[in-house]
Amino acid sequence: MYNKLIKEAIDAREKAYCPYSNFKVGAAVLFEDNNIYSGCNIENASFGATNCAERTAIFKGVSKGLRKIKALAVIGDTDDYTYPCGICRQVISEFAESQDIKIFIVKNENDYIETTLEKILPGSFTKKDLVK
Ligand code: THU
Repeated sequence: MYNKLIKEAIDAREKAYCPYSNFKVGAAVLFEDNNIYSGCNIENASFGATNCAERTAIFKGVSKGLRKIKALAVIGDTDDYTYPCGICRQVISEFAESQDIKIFIVKNENDYIETTLEKILPGSFTKKDLVK
């Protein structure tokens, strides 16, 4: 069921713009309308302006009017598993349909870890914490 999501993350990685790190990342996000938006990391000579693959994919969907993430897949560029960075975990949390959405940490189409947002970002700070 999530094979397409994983495949789209793998394909998106090929578009990575990463002349500084040479570390390609791809991500794909399943939104509430069951469409998948994918993205890659986009680096910048001013390193802090770099955008991670997960946020590229999320922002594509959000900018189309979507608001709820149902699942996300990410793949890095080593023989190991690449987990989302802290900033991306926070951005996933902002739009996650629930804390137990599935997160796929992908090595290849046949080798991935299935985890949840709650597991990789416990005790998260969300909009509910802003209520006085
Ligand atoms: N990167 C991502 O795209 N996602 C992550 O979750 C971790 C890091 C990118 C940013 C940068 O282009 C490269 O990987 C090295 O940090």
